[in-house]
Amino acid sequence: MQYTSNTLENHWMPFTVNRDFKADPRLVVKGEGINFTNHNGGRVIDGSSGLFCCAAGHGRKEIADAVANQLMEIDYSPHFQIGSPPSFELASRISALTPDEINHVFFTNSGSESIDTALKIAMAYHSARGEGHRNKFVSRERAYHGVNIGGTSLSGLMKNREIFGSVMPGIVHMRHTWSPDHRFVRGQPTWGAEMADDLERFAQLLGGTNIAACFVEPIAGSTGCLVPPKGYLERLREICDQYGILLVFDEVICGFGRLGVPFAAQAFGVTPDIMTMAKALTNGVLPMGAVAVRDSIYDTVIDTAPDGAVEFFHGYTYSGNPASCAASLATLDIYEKEGLFDKVAAMSDHFLDSIYDLEDLDIVTDIRGYGMLAGIDLAPGSGPGVTGTRAMKKLYAAGLHVKLTGDCALVAPPFVAEKGDIDEIGGILRDVLANL
Ligand SMILES: Cc1ncc(COP(=O)(O)O)c(C=O)c1O
Repeated sequence: MQYTSNTLENHWMPFTVNRDFKADPRLVVKGEGINFTNHNGGRVIDGSSGLFCCAAGHGRKEIADAVANQLMEIDYSPHFQIGSPPSFELASRISALTPDEINHVFFTNSGSESIDTALKIAMAYHSARGEGHRNKFVSRERAYHGVNIGGTSLSGLMKNREIFGSVMPGIVHMRHTWSPDHRFVRGQPTWGAEMADDLERFAQLLGGTNIAACFVEPIAGSTGCLVPPKGYLERLREICDQYGILLVFDEVICGFGRLGVPFAAQAFGVTPDIMTMAKALTNGVLPMGAVAVRDSIYDTVIDTAPDGAVEFFHGYTYSGNPASCAASLATLDIYEKEGLFDKVAAMSDHFLDSIYDLEDLDIVTDIRGYGMLAGIDLAPGSGPGVTGTRAMKKLYAAGLHVKLTGDCALVAPPFVAEKGDIDEIGGILRDVLANL
């Protein structure tokens, strides 16, 4: 592709220090396997699967072909009152991966839209059951549930919510699960399940029968990979059952194999009522999200609507977009044919060894990890995120893309990474962090 623009000025970039970026840009112009090529022709290893999406690696011809073929078959169809085959096929394929009780899938275009859709599904379900008064939602400190208004209100990250976070009323936040005692624990901490009792306290304070749903990322991802303490998610499930509260797992990062099984629900043995997903659903190549719900939720909303009436007044112009569905179907084929979820399970120990090996560096204050996802906390500089931004730039210059959130480096390589690739990532991290 030839680019004619010689200015970066017109693109207002998301979650970016725009002035800084435009003075010293980092552009990637090609992707293949676990590697990007930057605009100077240099190799940059993709240590975070883009933004946790490109699990099958970059430049997958199977996906490109599937999308191209789909565009020449049926390029666009609305999904309001008519449909096209790929979305039905994809919903079945996703249902085969979700827990047994979860077999109905609503399509969106992003993780953020999945979250706002899940909020509405919860409201629609309770309303259909004659419990429309359940209008409170429980989230958690340090949560990231995207950037739409619902997700921003659920957010537990101060910078994401301080200006716009209180638009949606009725949202309360449990404590996050990190504790200083968890420093450098690998996998699930053994201490902290009782923090789930915050939900019980909100049920006591607000009335359990007024709470519609409790939203959690099974592993809090964007804030820095906070792995749930043993028993924590189980306890949330018990409390939700006790009060009729829906349990929503935001699987946008964990879903599609990042933990070595299809979803966190299976990794931790806890079945939620609603699962939100996006990112690795299409290997990141086309925008798409999905919300999968228990059969009982779908049946309730559908069966209680009057004959001939639309049952759920919600949907997007691009819900179930054929090209995105084709990208996703080809992606799921790759995961299956190449056994990539099993590969994550087999590679996890080697990956975590190489990340926990950094524990001796002075600048590293904590490491957490599970599956092929790890967070490395760096000692803060003159303000929050100062060290993180410096680390991100130096890592990139050294040939490694890693997503920094504040002062935490989130490492999440594509599942196609081999042991040598993991070692190379660990080596660059060590060299750069040791000399930051
Ligand atoms: C857990 C979680 N939920 C929701 C989102 C929002 O997804 P998107 O950026 O596709 O809107 C993200 C994005 O990182 C996420 O990590």
